[in-house]
Amino acid sequence: MKPYIVAIFNQKGGISKTTTSTNLAVCLAAYGKSVVVIDLDSQGDSTKSLGIDPNVKRGIYDLFVGSAEVEEVMQDTAFAGVKVIPSTYSLAGIEIRLSELKDSQRTLTNIISHTALDCDYVIIDCPPALGILPINALAAAHAVIIPVTATPYANDGLMRTLPSIKYVQEGLNKALLLQGVLFTIHDRNKTARKISELIRARLGGTVYGAEIPRDTMVIEAATARLPVCVYAPKSAAAQAHLDFTGEFLDRHQKIAAKAGVVVPPPGRRDEALNRLLAWQSEHAHEASQPNGERVRQRKHQLDRMLYGNRTPLERLHLGVIHFFIENRISLVAFLLVVLAAMVTLVGMGVEGVRMLASTMGLS
Ligand SMILES: Nc1ncnc2c1ncn2[C@@H]1O[C@H](COP(=O)(O)OP(=O)(O)O)[C@@H](O)[C@H]1O
Ligand SMILES: [Mg+2]
Repeated sequence: MKPYIVAIFNQKGGISKTTTSTNLAVCLAAYGKSVVVIDLDSQGDSTKSLGIDPNVKRGIYDLFVGSAEVEEVMQDTAFAGVKVIPSTYSLAGIEIRLSELKDSQRTLTNIISHTALDCDYVIIDCPPALGILPINALAAAHAVIIPVTATPYANDGLMRTLPSIKYVQEGLNKALLLQGVLFTIHDRNKTARKISELIRARLGGTVYGAEIPRDTMVIEAATARLPVCVYAPKSAAAQAHLDFTGEFLDRHQKIAAKAGVVVPPPGRRDEALNRLLAWQSEHAHEASQPNGERVRQRKHQLDRMLYGNRTPLERLHLGVIHFFIENRISLVAFLLVVLAAMVTLVGMGVEGVRMLASTMGLS
């Protein structure tokens, strides 16, 4: 059985690629399908979210450099039907290693085609920006899904992402299909509605009907290292992910039918929800970590969102502002203290010079 390979890609970061990848994976499994998630981001977020430690010794990096076989690095997850080829932190150095190889843009294609990946779907979680890793993902995939958020910058992200897909379609992978655009972290305000209407008008039926709403449960789930569909299957975001997965499966069936391939129909939505609920009760203990630990993890996550893609100067600037806010120091009070210290120092300096002069008999 040849799996249907889907890359989750947008050149922007923080747009819900990882959240989409992991939730699509568990929802597909809940619908009765088997899935392998390939984590191509050196930060290992989808690896972590599926309960695997990215400190494991071997992962996708070792497949790229040929030092391990797929069976040696692929890991089972706690969710029956979902396996993961984890990212390891060493993946950050892959660009240099791959640049030394011939045909480096097709390394992942070669890995997948030489391995009997025994599953229905492969989901590739891409890192942000267009480097050698996303190019490898797009070259190996049958289809690509672009998550977007309906913010004023959404168009920029799309404008940079669509040409990259076209570049791959024109050279490396002519069969690559844009399966759909998915609205994520979707706000219910006028701006978001206008932007989503504009994008829908431009891209027509490519955009999925389901929209994943902004939901704090997604962040709570990430701190508990679970996909939101397992952490809170009845939350708004989880329900939207289930709907999206249903649409994804429908689209795939139609695409396959056109190519004369029969895809077994998915299970029912209520059965899928029951499976997610069963996983939720199996993981109830992870969802109830001590509060302090959760707060610490959430702070770490927020820091990453704030500082992640910024230049060192911007980080310094934000860091100073946050130092004041976190320590509840008023800027005016701080400047007054600095001024007082400077006056004291200058005063001491003048006094010192006067004393020195009098000791030397100069005054
Ligand atoms: N529907 C949502 N509601 C609220 N927060 C979300 C939602 N989807 C994702 N997030 C949060 O946004 C941040 C970025 O999401 P992530 O999936 O890591 O994006 P990417 O992989 O594109 O960088 C994470 O902190 C995640 O928990
Ligand atoms: Mg990510």
